[in-house]
Amino acid sequence: METAKQTEIPKPRRIVLVPCPYQGHITPMLQLASFLHSVAGFSITIAHTRFNSPNPSNFPHFQFVYLDDGIPEKEAIPTDLIAVLLELNVNCRDSFKAEMRKLMAVEPEDSSEVIAGVIHDEIMFFCEEIASDLKLRSFILRTTAAVTSLARMALVSLNDEGMDPIPKLHPLRFKDLPISLTTDFTGYSKLMKKTYNMETPTTAKAIIWNTMEWLEDSIMAKIENKSTVPIFPIGPLHRIVSAQTSVLKEDFDCLSWLDEQADNVVIYVAIGSIASYNEKAFGEMAWGLANSQQPFLWVVQPGAIHGSEWIEALPKDFLEAIGGRGYIVKWAPQKQVLAHRAVGGFWSHCGWNSSMESLSEGVPMLCSPCFGDQKVNARYLSYVWRVGIQLENGLEREEIEKGIRRLMVGEESKEMRERTKDFKEKIEAYVLKVKDQCYSHTYLAELVSLLKSS
Ligand code: UDX
Repeated sequence: METAKQTEIPKPRRIVLVPCPYQGHITPMLQLASFLHSVAGFSITIAHTRFNSPNPSNFPHFQFVYLDDGIPEKEAIPTDLIAVLLELNVNCRDSFKAEMRKLMAVEPEDSSEVIAGVIHDEIMFFCEEIASDLKLRSFILRTTAAVTSLARMALVSLNDEGMDPIPKLHPLRFKDLPISLTTDFTGYSKLMKKTYNMETPTTAKAIIWNTMEWLEDSIMAKIENKSTVPIFPIGPLHRIVSAQTSVLKEDFDCLSWLDEQADNVVIYVAIGSIASYNEKAFGEMAWGLANSQQPFLWVVQPGAIHGSEWIEALPKDFLEAIGGRGYIVKWAPQKQVLAHRAVGGFWSHCGWNSSMESLSEGVPMLCSPCFGDQKVNARYLSYVWRVGIQLENGLEREEIEKGIRRLMVGEESKEMRERTKDFKEKIEAYVLKVKDQCYSHTYLAELVSLLKSS
């Protein structure tokens, strides 16, 4: 006769996921949620800010609950991102706690479901403390390259060590360094210390990382060495699972325009969801593109050009100069664009998602980072992995024109395309192996098993 223990059926498990409400962060979190639901069978709750919320109808099997963020919708591209991120961690606390309590209240002793954990974006660090108060397990999702975390922590430590003056740079002090990432280093430092648990060890059970171990092996080894919790580099998530994660409406007509172009001739231009330019830089970009004589598909997100609704600031003769050689959209289906046979280069701000998407499709990059981790990514893409060319002197039409030519035609371009193809093949082989093994013996499998354990 079977004992009660033997016949016990495990309770269904729910995971609560908390994205940071910007596209580059929302995307990997929703991809992870889709994997955990469709492959691993978890029930999913997405706790999202009201601000910048994705369309729940794209995820009919998920439950959505909303957090009071206090951010005005008109600030889609924030002027002071650090301040907004710090505010989110204060503003969302109470509503997150209340939503979690509601979820737990429908989970009495004999309930048919258990909450297996809270997975929060590294920037939404307030969740860790609340989960701990409520006796729930928490997990951190990091959405940048691993090397970015080392660079950010080094910057903060350098400042803390009171490098005044900086050795070798006497009489320069830390605050004199030409760092353009933010004018308020105090806010930056506060955000990073919390994000990377630099002052108090994390109470999270594990760190999930949207990167590939083989791509960043030596960096990952350093991080793992110091980490008090297991690390699961499970990327690239966009190749593991497909999900409709875009907050903005994608313009699919650009794919028909790409169909009319020859192979590998189009340069795709996009700067992610939160980077922005002034009118002068926008004009230089336009003339650089026009003078390169290369066909281009250009994403200009409404609000990305300071002082403009959309593309009113384009130079007067620009449209005439390009004829039918260019196509401008407000938002593109980027992964499909990069996979299109006509696209031969990607002029990018080098956000981490964009970088992995480009590597996955074997598309070499023209790198013009705006801020933050984009600078680290650009350096790795151009100098370490040698799949991109960095515009080193800001945005200036002649350098852009030259950069586009180097990227798209000639011997250097051919070599770079070959190297990028190698990355594409490696990623394809890796993803195939993960799927062939039905996700077992992988970091994803270890993560799922941890989430299923008590
Ligand atoms: C931000 C940071 O800037 C980035 O550096 C960090 O790594 C994540 O958070 P973002 O600037 O939006 O992200 O860049 P990125 O990480 O590249 O993410 C943008 C996402 O938007 C990509 O997945 C891309 O496919 C998508 N996208 C972009 C579109 O779907 N359509 C577009 O037209 C442009």
